[in-house]
Amino acid sequence: MKLYSDFSWLWPIVSPLSEYEHETNEIMRWISDSSEIEGNRLLDLGCGGGHHDFFFKNRFDITGVDISESMLQLAKNLNPEVKYEQGDIFNYEPSEKFDVVFLGEAADYIKTWESLQGMFNKIKNWLNPNGVCVAFRNILKEGFIQNETNMSQHYGNGYSITFIENRFIPDENDNICESTYIYLIRKDKELTVHTDKHVYGIFQSKKWHKTIENCGFKLKHKTINDIPMIMGFL
Ligand SMILES: C[S@@+](CC[C@H](N)C(=O)[O-])C[C@H]1O[C@@H](n2cnc3c(N)ncnc32)[C@H](O)[C@@H]1O
Repeated sequence: MKLYSDFSWLWPIVSPLSEYEHETNEIMRWISDSSEIEGNRLLDLGCGGGHHDFFFKNRFDITGVDISESMLQLAKNLNPEVKYEQGDIFNYEPSEKFDVVFLGEAADYIKTWESLQGMFNKIKNWLNPNGVCVAFRNILKEGFIQNETNMSQHYGNGYSITFIENRFIPDENDNICESTYIYLIRKDKELTVHTDKHVYGIFQSKKWHKTIENCGFKLKHKTINDIPMIMGFL
C-alpha cells in the first residue's frame, strides 16, 4: 500500500485535516449522547496521519496505533502530545483499558469473518465498564457497483494530485474487494504516474452486524459524512 509508505506525504493533500473536523465532532457528539462512558481514554486503531486525533484530543487522552511508520510520523508531527505506537491491529495487545475504541478506515482491511470476530472479541476485553467501540463500515456489499471508477483532484504544497480508484470484486462468493489506484502527481510541468493496490474486506452489513453482536455487543448505527458507522456497547 504505497499510499501509506512511499506516498504517505500525499496524505495531508489528498485527505486534508479540515475535512475531519465536522466528522470527528459528530462522532464525539454521538458518543456523548448515546453512552455513559466514565473516563476519557481513547484507542485509535489504524490512526494513520492522526487527522481524527487532532480533533479527538480536545476531549480524549489518546493512544494511536498504526502499522505504517511514515503515517505514524505524520501523526506525531501533527499531535506531539499524543501517545503513538507502531503495531499491527490484528496482533496488538494494549497494556491498559479504554473508554472508547475507535476503528476508522482500518476496518476496511478486515477481510474475513474470523478476523472480524477476532477483532471485536479483543476490543470487548479492552473496554472499561460502560466503554464503547465506534467502527466505520465504508465498504458494503449492498449498493456496490462492480468495476466502478471514481476520480478526485487535490491541490497542495505546489502539487496537483489526481486520484483514480477502480473497485472490483474478483469472486462474488467471497469477501474481497480489490481497489486499484492511479495517482497522477504533477509539480509545475512535470508529471509522474503511479499505481497502487489495496485489498479490502467487503461484507453485507446485516451479517457484519450479526457477527459483532455474537461477540457480545449491542449496536447503534449512524451515518456521518456519508460513512455508515456502528457503535458497540457491552
Ligand atoms: C485511511 S488511513 C487512516 C486515516 C486516519 N483516520 C487519519 O485520521 O489520518 C488507514 C490507516 O490504516 C492503517 N492500517 C491498515 N492496516 C493496518 C493494520 N493491520 N494494523 C495497523 N494499521 C493498519 C494504514 O497504515 C493507514 O495509516
